[in-house]
Amino acid sequence: MATTLISRTLNPNPRTAEHIAEILQDPGFGRYFTDHMVTIRWTEDDGWHDAALVPYGPIAMDPATTFIHYGQAIFEGLKAYRQPDGSISTFRPDASAARFGRSAARLAMPAMPEDLFLAALEALVGQDVAYVPFGQEKSLYIRPFMFSTEVGLGVHPANEYLFVMIASPAGAYFSRGVKPVSVWLCTDYIRAAPGGTGEAKCAGNYAASLLAQSEAADQGCDQVVWLDALEHQWVEEMGGMNLFFVHGSGEDARLVTPALSGSLLPGITRDSLLTLAKDTALRPREARVSVEHWREGNASGEITEVFACGTAAVITPVGSVLSDDDSWTVGDGQPGPVTMRLRQELLDIQTGQAHDVHGWMYTLVPAPE
Ligand SMILES: Cc1ncc(COP(=O)(O)O)c(C=O)c1O
Repeated sequence: MATTLISRTLNPNPRTAEHIAEILQDPGFGRYFTDHMVTIRWTEDDGWHDAALVPYGPIAMDPATTFIHYGQAIFEGLKAYRQPDGSISTFRPDASAARFGRSAARLAMPAMPEDLFLAALEALVGQDVAYVPFGQEKSLYIRPFMFSTEVGLGVHPANEYLFVMIASPAGAYFSRGVKPVSVWLCTDYIRAAPGGTGEAKCAGNYAASLLAQSEAADQGCDQVVWLDALEHQWVEEMGGMNLFFVHGSGEDARLVTPALSGSLLPGITRDSLLTLAKDTALRPREARVSVEHWREGNASGEITEVFACGTAAVITPVGSVLSDDDSWTVGDGQPGPVTMRLRQELLDIQTGQAHDVHGWMYTLVPAPE
């Protein structure tokens, strides 16, 4: 348990148990927020201070607040799950806190101590525990974020920041069975370039991705696949998820994922799958993967499955690919056995159905006595 003190001001008008139950029947994603949030301020003079659990609500802002203009804003995303013993746990919050710290460093923002990050999680989920849904693949999605609050139009690292943590119940990503996505290989736009902010989870990366996502939709595809900035031939990631390629099948199946090049987001799901795959015979490898290699591997039958992974959907199979001059179906276009096995393995750890040998789960709310 984290030990940092967080003051509490409870929401005078929390939702009723009946209203929460109604929301939890079909929470969707990011539609409803719990009754509280955590806010913590940072200033140059006082460092981190004023850690508080307060009623969820609007944040008043001066129009000249620097982040609105210059985009010093970062975030994380993690989930809390009900466990079989009645406790509530989250997955690898230390990795999330560490990535939050790296994102902060890249945007010249202050580092938040891991203990404070964990204390905020415990305070929020402990208070709004009624919003953690029951049911396979349902979770409470937690969104920590930080932005600059200095007022003024000078372009420099701000001298004040606000950290906020909010939470939102999330339904099963695939409510009607796992469905493969179609992807558009984007060459008109890039997500990140060497030396840029691709490794950071900063707001601007997502703003810059929207046009390409619209282009993918115009092409009839579900998602965009990002290629490298310089040659437009190396596969980087898919929308907000990392990619894995399965070579071969059965006992010979092996896993390859694009190597972290500085422009990919180092996904926590990606890292966990690499570890899980090492525990089995999948002999995972991080390597550069070209579009040509994907096209040829698909044609020869060498590449049998492709999937994307991330906190939101855990694992999403890729069913078909479209580019300017080609299109192909991945395998038979259906979710493959390695994809589905790894998906279940990870879900079982997160929901307490499998033994957590790597110590990835962190208890936020202990089991009732
Ligand atoms: C661009 C991008 N890539 C990959 C991921 C997957 O990361 P994680 O597995 O930590 O959710 C995310 C989501 O956070 C993302 O936004």
